[in-house]
This record gives sequence, structure tokens and C-alpha cells, in this order.
Amino acid sequence: MRSHYCGSVNEAHIGQEVTLCGWVHRRRDHGGVIFLDMRDREGVAQIVFDPDTVESFAKAERVRSEYVLQIKGFVRARPDGTVNEDMPTGKIEVLGKELEILNAAETPPFPLDEYVDVGEDTRLKFRFMDLRRPEMLNRLMFRSKTTNFIRNYLDQNGFMDVETPILTRATPEGARDYLVPSRTHAGSFFALPQSPQLFKQLLMVSGIDRYYQIAKCFRDEDLRADRQPEFTQVDVEVSYMDDEGIMSLMESMVGDMFKELLGQDLGTFPRMPYAEAMQRYGSDKPDLRIPLEIVDVADLMEGVDFKVFAGPAKDPKGRVAALKVTGGAELSRKQIDEYTKYVGIYGAKGLAWIKVNEIENGANGLQSPIVKFLGDEVAMQIMDRLEAKNGDIVFFGADKTKVVNEALGALRCKLGEDLDLFTCEWAPLWVVDFPMFEELDGGGLTAIHHPFTAPSCSPEELRNAPEKALSRAYDMVLNGTELGGGSIRIHDGDMQKAVFEILGIDEAEQQNKFGFLLDALKYGCPPHGGLAFGLDRLVMLMTGAKSIREVIAFPKTQSATCLLTQAPGEVDAKQLRELSIRVRKPESGSESAQ
Ligand code: AMO
Ligand code: AMP
Repeated sequence: MRSHYCGSVNEAHIGQEVTLCGWVHRRRDHGGVIFLDMRDREGVAQIVFDPDTVESFAKAERVRSEYVLQIKGFVRARPDGTVNEDMPTGKIEVLGKELEILNAAETPPFPLDEYVDVGEDTRLKFRFMDLRRPEMLNRLMFRSKTTNFIRNYLDQNGFMDVETPILTRATPEGARDYLVPSRTHAGSFFALPQSPQLFKQLLMVSGIDRYYQIAKCFRDEDLRADRQPEFTQVDVEVSYMDDEGIMSLMESMVGDMFKELLGQDLGTFPRMPYAEAMQRYGSDKPDLRIPLEIVDVADLMEGVDFKVFAGPAKDPKGRVAALKVTGGAELSRKQIDEYTKYVGIYGAKGLAWIKVNEIENGANGLQSPIVKFLGDEVAMQIMDRLEAKNGDIVFFGADKTKVVNEALGALRCKLGEDLDLFTCEWAPLWVVDFPMFEELDGGGLTAIHHPFTAPSCSPEELRNAPEKALSRAYDMVLNGTELGGGSIRIHDGDMQKAVFEILGIDEAEQQNKFGFLLDALKYGCPPHGGLAFGLDRLVMLMTGAKSIREVIAFPKTQSATCLLTQAPGEVDAKQLRELSIRVRKPESGSESAQ
């Protein structure tokens, strides 16, 4: 129906007849001449109708925003003085000869011809309109280029695209499962995959050797800007390749992609052990664009009178640490109070601070609510350690290590944003040497990655001191976001059983849940490993979007619903009967059925 896209007509077409299809972006009547800006996927072209073409002119008078048109006309140069340098099609216009209204449109729920701050709920409800906006279209186009690049890269490196089931059994990645009732097995449920983890490992046992999949994953977890219940992984697994090989292959893929799609050179990614990341940045996904670092000061605080600091300083599970902000003494009391509230979200009970006004006057040159508790000598020792200068502010956290890391780690990022401290545009790194396990709040251990991750020690060492064991896992982090994570896997049945035991999964449960994996490990499983990227996060960072919802065509809301289709929805009684399901209605006043 068309000869060209509206957005691709240019000076090369001057004198040619073109047929364009698209929406009415804007209509302007100018003293007997009608200008239509017509829009399609590729951009906007200006069509001019003059009264000589009587029939078309009459139709052009009738059209409204978002009507769907087909026009035929001749491309000509715009008259002097009317050239629009900002538009790719700004040097030409199309003199319209024929106009066909292919479809009318009601007044759109929000205007598309100008920027209007429309609430996200409205955008999601009318997502099909929202996606017409060039900003959204461009992100989807970029996403398509990204997956295309990845497919080509992996294909050139001998990877095979293999699909794995969506109706499956629980795959433990640490979130709740989405369940699907089985009609043919009343009372039994499929789980939607949290990732293709076990299937990709089985594909290594099968000899696929190099697997990839752009895979949908499902996790019923608390949602945030970078989390959706349904998201996409670039999932990769390789046999006979060690940690170094996998990291370097994946680093090249991401590096080449940034070069090709954004013209950016990410350089070589530094490696940082988990323990160092936690100590210096309070996070296992540090944003290295921000130059602030957390510094331990517990040794200086053990003897002070201030219990808030001395307690955690003496507690082996406690941490007392400081964060110096160069030039931060300008922060007002109100701003400091806001930061105190902010760290409260992460469980911090306060946010002590020292402003450095005149360091040459010793402790008298410090302004702070806590120097009187610390004593002048300790205060100055701290200033020395932090190399504090006039105009700086130093914040303190004292609590259990986890609380201090989370609070100061988050404060570091917030200050980086608020004070615009970024030193570069892109800061990638690998975080390595993760512990195998972490303690659960109620006691017991849980796997930091997943239970199929290989430890870097023997099964005996693992059994003897599981809390000390490190894993062969690696995370790729970019600008404070975990882009991807993976590991070398356990390919030995004994080791796998040792991990299950440490996690409190007894023999019967092992057989019931993971019997197929333990079987597969018996029949010649090659050493293997892999990684999965969060595609949505990758595209979000590359397009500068604030949330992964902005790079997903039809995302869910923060409360895991779809405002467009109204999913999840109720189903009729017959369907439930077929599934042998009886729904217990939430009691009035209670949030959900028990
Ligand atoms: P992991 O659980 O770390 O590893 O997930 C890999 C990557 O997927 C992305 N991601 C998400 N993106 C959006 N919404 C979510 N809810 C969400 N959850 C995770 C992140 C993350 O880095 N099977 C392992 C990978 C492996 O070991 O090979 C796995 O799923 O970017
Ligand atoms: P207080 O004596 O409780 O008023 O605390 C004095 C200062 O220490 C205030 O600036 C508090 O914000 C701060 N503070 C209190 N508890 C902590 C803590 N656990 N970590 C860091 N600072 C704290």
C-alpha cells in the first residue's frame, strides 16, 4: 500500500511520486492550504494539500489527529525559509494529490503530537497508543537491534538456540513460583520457570556444548524499577570452558555490542571480589561511577563512650563505617535530616555526621552532634584516616554489618545522584568470589546464587565449613545494576548432594525435586558453566530509560497486573471445576485468602 515510509522520504526523492501510509500527527490550516504532518514508524513527513485538488482537499479538511491515511503525491523541496533542520524530512514536503481515509480515530486519550506528562497508569491502559510515541518506538527498535546483535554474536561463536519448556517444575532461583494447575492431574501444578537453569545444564549433558536462548522467566517477587514478574534473559551455557573463558566471551559480547550500537568503548572490565565490594561500597553491585568509598573505623570506636558506636565496634557481626563526601559540608540540616530518613528505609537507626569547617583548628574546627561523645582525639584520628579536608562532610553508620552496608551503600548512590558526582558514563565490572551461602534470618543457610553453583573447594571442605566456602560465581555489573550472573556448575553428583544437604534438603526431597538432575550427573556430565543477562535491564541502561517497564512492550504494574488486559482475571466456574479448583474468596477486611 505504500512506496516509502513517511520518515524515510528525503531530498533524493524530489520530483518523484510517493505513496505514504500513516497517522495524522498534526493538521494545520494555513490560509487556504492544509498541512498534514503524517507519521509512521520511521518518522514524520509534511504533506501539503491545496484547494486545486478539490476532492482530496475536502477530505483533508475532515481528518483529525490519529486518523489513518494513505496519500499519493509528489516530493518537492520546501520553499526557502520553511526548511526544518531538526527533522530528517525537514528539507522536503509532499504535494498531496490523492487522499484516502483508511480509518477514523476517536480523540486519543492523550495527545501524541506534543510532550505531555501523562500518568503511567493511563499510558499502560492505552499502551497501544503509548507505543506510537517515537520515544517508546525507538526503545523497542533498539531492543530488537540488541537481540539481533546478541543472536548474531552467539551464532558466530557456535552457540545453538534451543527452547526449553514454560510448563515445568519449580526451578529454585530464590523467588516464589507462578503456578499453573494441571487439568489432567487434578491437584498437581506446573511451575513457570524462574530461569531455564536446569534445562540448560541438561542440554550440556546431552552434548549441545554451546546453548543460548532469549528466554522468558517468571518470578513472583516484590517488584521494583528493575524487576518485573515476567522478564527476559539472554541465557547462555557452555561445556568445557572455565570461569575465565566464559567471562571473557561475555565481556567481549557486551563490549562489542556497546561499540556497535552506541559507539561506546567500555574498556576492560575490572574484577572485584565480593568481600571487597561489600567493604568499599556496601553492595555486591557497586556503582563505580561514584567516587565515594566506605571506610571502616570500628577499631577507633571500640573504646568510645558512645554506646551506639562502641557496641557494633566490638560485635563480630557489627560494623562501624564512615563515608566522606568531598565538599558536602554545604548540605543543610534539612538535607541531612532527609538522608537520615532515607537510610532509615534500610534499617539504620540514625545517621551521625561531622562537618569539617576548619581542620587547622583540630576538633574545634569540626561541627557535629557526636564529636562530644567520641572525644577530640578519636574524632581527629578519624579525620586523618579519611584524609578529610575543609568543606567535607563525613557520615557514619553503626549497626549489624548487613544494615550498615545496605544503608551506607544506598546513601552512597543517592549522594552520587543528588550531587551529580559521576566521574564517567559507564562503569562495568565483574564481581567474583561470592560466598556459597548466606545465613537466613531465622537460621540455616541459603545459596547466594543457586544450589547448582560450584564451590571453589572440595566436598569435604564444603561440608566442614560451609559458611566460609566461596563459589565460582560471577556477576556482571554496570552502573550499579546487576546486568547478569552466572557460574561454573557442579558436574559431580557427590558435590551436588553435599550442597543439597547443607541447604537442609534431605535425600527424599532431593530425589523428589531434583532426581532428574542427580540422574543426569551419573551419565557423563561434562564440566560446564554459563551465565544469564537480564535483557530488559541491559536495554534499559543502553537507552537511558529509568525503569525496565519503559523497554517492555506490555509490562506489568508494580502490583503485578496488566492494566491493558486487566490480567489476572477471574475465570468461570466451569473452568475451575475442570481444574478441580475451588476458590476461597478473601474474607472481607482481610487482604487475601489464607
Ligand atoms: P539470576 O537470578 O541472577 O540468575 O538472573 C540473571 C539476570 O536476570 C535478571 N533478572 C531480572 N530482570 C528483571 N526482572 C526480574 N524479576 C529479574 N530477576 C533477574 C538480572 C539478573 O542478573 N539461572 C541463573 C543464571 C545462571 O546461573 O546462568 C539466573 O537466573 O539482570
Ligand atoms: P542520639 O544520641 O541517638 O541522638 O544520636 C546522635 C547522633 O548519632 C545522631 O546524629 C544520630 O543520627 C546518630 N546515630 C544514632 N544511631 C546511629 C547509628 N546506629 N548509626 C549511625 N548514626 C547513628
